[in-house]
Amino acid sequence: MSFVVAIDGPAGAGKGTITKMVGEKLGLVNIDTGATFRCVALNMLQENIHMDEEEKIKKILEKIDIQMEHDGKVYLNGEEVTKRIRENDVNDLVSPVSVLPIVRNKLLEVQRKIAEGKNVIMEGRDIGTVVFPDADVKIYLDATPEERAKRRVLQNKEKGIECSYEEVLQGIKDRDKRDSTREIAPLKRAKDAIYVDTTNLSIKQVVEKIIEIIENK
Ligand code: DC
Repeated sequence: MSFVVAIDGPAGAGKGTITKMVGEKLGLVNIDTGATFRCVALNMLQENIHMDEEEKIKKILEKIDIQMEHDGKVYLNGEEVTKRIRENDVNDLVSPVSVLPIVRNKLLEVQRKIAEGKNVIMEGRDIGTVVFPDADVKIYLDATPEERAKRRVLQNKEKGIECSYEEVLQGIKDRDKRDSTREIAPLKRAKDAIYVDTTNLSIKQVVEKIIEIIENK
């Protein structure tokens, strides 16, 4: 038996930071599903495969190996790509790639397997709706696009990645639109998810709120 906490929400809502902190405090394994989509996008860039080359995408999906370590490191086919998958070329490709049914089907299998038999806190866009519709706790984290862009710029700076606020804000708006209007597994709040607006909350406040929700289960 495993215990599953699903954290969904748009880019920059704080899912990554919050999931990591709550996971550490409660002893849950933290799984970032966005990283699995980013690995597929990076693999396509490495192999010079374009969006319309379905047969070639199928081939890389057949042999793709994605590993996530407890310390947050991500490995694609044996190579550490933790930082590489956050760069702009991957950011631009990952949203269109995540719309492809063959990619989603394959990663659904990968994500369920990673969580098998463990107590997990899993973050993404469709965890509470598709990946684990029977999750024990479902939370939908949100914030205004402007606040999310501010956070992304800061986060990138800390990682040594230079970017402008306008560029990031536009990227976030475009991604929101694509993620929530796609046909398969769109970004949307599960009916039974608890909505948490983080716009005016500190990280500490959000973490406390979520721990309280989980402990009340
Ligand atoms: O959370 P992130 O920014 O790393 O996600 C990257 C992309 O992957 C994002 O554009 C939406 C997609 N994604 C998805 O479709 N389903 C998930 N469960 C997680 C991410």
